[in-house]
Amino acid sequence: MTKLSELREEIAGCRRCELYREATQAVTSVGNTRARMMLVGEQPGDREDVEGEPFVGPAGRVLDAALRSAGIERSDAYLTNAVKHFRFERRGKRRIHRKPAVEHIEACHPWLEAEVAIVRPRVVVCLGATAGRAVLGRPVRIGEERGGLIEDVDETGGAAVVITTHPSSLLRLRDRGDYDAELERLVTDLRLAASAL
Ligand code: URA
Repeated sequence: MTKLSELREEIAGCRRCELYREATQAVTSVGNTRARMMLVGEQPGDREDVEGEPFVGPAGRVLDAALRSAGIERSDAYLTNAVKHFRFERRGKRRIHRKPAVEHIEACHPWLEAEVAIVRPRVVVCLGATAGRAVLGRPVRIGEERGGLIEDVDETGGAAVVITTHPSSLLRLRDRGDYDAELERLVTDLRLAASAL
């Protein structure tokens, strides 16, 4: 079986879709083969694209706060993204995030599949609809599917799946009360995932 280090090298040279052309680099994962919880995000953001590591920017800070409140050590989890290259459009000097299209999720899927096969997590947390689609191979509506453990999932080698919101959706909330309430919901979903370990 391929080792994670070899897989990361292959991902670094990925040309499966056009996103590699504009991105700084492919952003692979952090974590190790022994992690029992896999967290799947959407795609690297601006910071992650530059630093080459998932969830090191503003969304990562929200995720860290939620993990802390849920009693989960970041280093105990394996963090990756559904799509490994940053998709964006340029507006002047700024690079504005663009959601990956289904074709990007599909092009990147073999990497995620290989990660699941190597890590063999007990639970996979999908952070947002893109991650849900990548992991389950079908469209996912967060509002309808969050709050429960999806068990015996073939696509994850039997690992339970938890669907939750993407941490970056909290960054758009201007009202402090709304933010706190959404953070609490994210924490509740992460606790649910931890209960399946
Ligand atoms: N958003 C994601 O989905 N993944 C990251 O790595 C950073 C932001």
